[in-house]
Amino acid sequence: MSSADNPERLDDHSQKRIKPEQPPPHRARSEEEQLQELLDTRYMADLGPMKSGWGRRQFLNISTIAVTFAGLNLFIWPFLQSMNPAADVEALASTEVDLSPIGEGQAVTVVWRGKPVFVRRRTEQEIVEAEDVDVAALPDPAPDSARVEKPECLVVVGLCTHLGCVPRGQRSTDPRGDYGGWFCSCHGAQYDTSGRIRKGPAPTNLEIPPYKFVSDDIIRIG
Ligand code: FES
Repeated sequence: MSSADNPERLDDHSQKRIKPEQPPPHRARSEEEQLQELLDTRYMADLGPMKSGWGRRQFLNISTIAVTFAGLNLFIWPFLQSMNPAADVEALASTEVDLSPIGEGQAVTVVWRGKPVFVRRRTEQEIVEAEDVDVAALPDPAPDSARVEKPECLVVVGLCTHLGCVPRGQRSTDPRGDYGGWFCSCHGAQYDTSGRIRKGPAPTNLEIPPYKFVSDDIIRIG
């Protein structure tokens, strides 16, 4: 705006000359101001889609999903926590067995995770019978050495692999079948002194549970 566009005029009351309004002197913007302006421009450009209806809808949708998810999380978390096994149940996940009271040729039955587990301290003869077989000819081939930690101690899950009956043979007076291990009277499955299926309808050997010796005479199952 020049003085020609805005000429001097007289004040109506004082009759003094009034100088035309001058525009503020131009001031060079600092680098800091220019950088801020650039950032503001970039920010507004990023928010560009928000100005449209589509952008607002998408924002609202995402917000709704986030709030719903947080709400579900609050509801589901206590439910999931309630499904965690209690401390006493976790304790049953492993069972320790003291072998020292078990004499040679005797067996005990313990419960592990709701299943019977047979622990037999084998005699020298039972060990020889278990090792001296043609492994390739077995229905479910497995060498005895792969089924025991120590030859004198056999640990198997006491459930027939046919239909889950509990085979007999834990007591010395029980029938043990032709192979000296266990006999399942349900349908006649016979297991040897390594718990391997030798005769009858059972498809696989008695299962070996996870276990380890925690001392010379104590094993931990599970
Ligand atoms: S359940 Fe053991 S033979 Fe059938």
